[in-house]
Amino acid sequence: MTTDLTGTRVLITGGARGLGLRTAQVLAERGAAVVLADVDEAAGAAAADALTADGRTASFVALDVTDDSSWTRAMEQATAALGGLDGLVNNAGIEISDLFVDLDADNVRRILDVNVVGTALGVKHAFRSMRKDDGTGTGGAIVNIASVAAAIAFPGIAAYSASKSAVERLSKVAAAESGRLGYGVRVNTVCPGLVPNAMGAQLAGDMERLGLFPSAQEAVVAVVGLTPSGRLATEDDIAHGIAFLLSSDSEFVNGTTLSIDGAMGM
Ligand SMILES: NC(=O)c1ccc[n+]([C@@H]2O[C@H](COP(=O)([O-])OP(=O)(O)OC[C@H]3O[C@@H](n4cnc5c(N)ncnc54)[C@H](O)[C@@H]3O)[C@@H](O)[C@H]2O)c1
Repeated sequence: MTTDLTGTRVLITGGARGLGLRTAQVLAERGAAVVLADVDEAAGAAAADALTADGRTASFVALDVTDDSSWTRAMEQATAALGGLDGLVNNAGIEISDLFVDLDADNVRRILDVNVVGTALGVKHAFRSMRKDDGTGTGGAIVNIASVAAAIAFPGIAAYSASKSAVERLSKVAAAESGRLGYGVRVNTVCPGLVPNAMGAQLAGDMERLGLFPSAQEAVVAVVGLTPSGRLATEDDIAHGIAFLLSSDSEFVNGTTLSIDGAMGM
């Protein structure tokens, strides 16, 4: 039996492709009305159109998660389209690999801007839209996407790992703040293991480029070797966990981290 999300209204950042798009598809298959939000407007609009053609309730809004005013506009459009909001998946993220000896400060700032500032702004705007203490909304759930990189020390991804540790911690503070102030919004983190999609392939390639592994394939083999469940993650593995955290099945799950990594990060 799958989680029922009928009537749940969810905005997914980074929804134009990859894990965000697959999450939107899974949520929509389970009855959610979804808004995809992304900087890639062409791909995002096409993805929303494809979902609509499949009979799902879906639309697209342009959003740069690093920009506060962009969030204001996107949330206005999304809540107008959906008639309110019950869930936010802060999924948009970037990864730029660097060895410390070649560290590029601009790369570090860019990663922190998208992954940390972008997620924090998402929490801000979702709280403003969903909080029930002042009658604005009816409460809801936020799922922030971190990574197994928040729990392990893999070479070459220092800034990315730091950003994902920050996402995990800020999520817990957000859960505490929401509870303290009666917003009625749960905030949880999902830490995916390596998924062999575009970002996963880029990361494996980086391991070879940086001289950390003889080949991308051997980097992947090393990751699988570090994973007790013995395989990489799939986008569906991650989307199913996100669906659970958005649903009423997880009503009392708050401020937690759901690792979906085959125990790599334990
Ligand atoms: N792929 C993996 O192996 C893996 C593992 C662990 C965690 N994650 C995390 O999962 C999330 C999704 O990753 P993915 O594999 O789908 O990556 P992806 O690169 O395929 O997709 C990322 C999406 O985010 C969008 N995006 C980037 N910057 C943005 C911005 N400033 N504003 C709005 N949208 C923006 C991109 O346009 C893209 O559509 C990320 O947070 C990533 O760190 C991925």
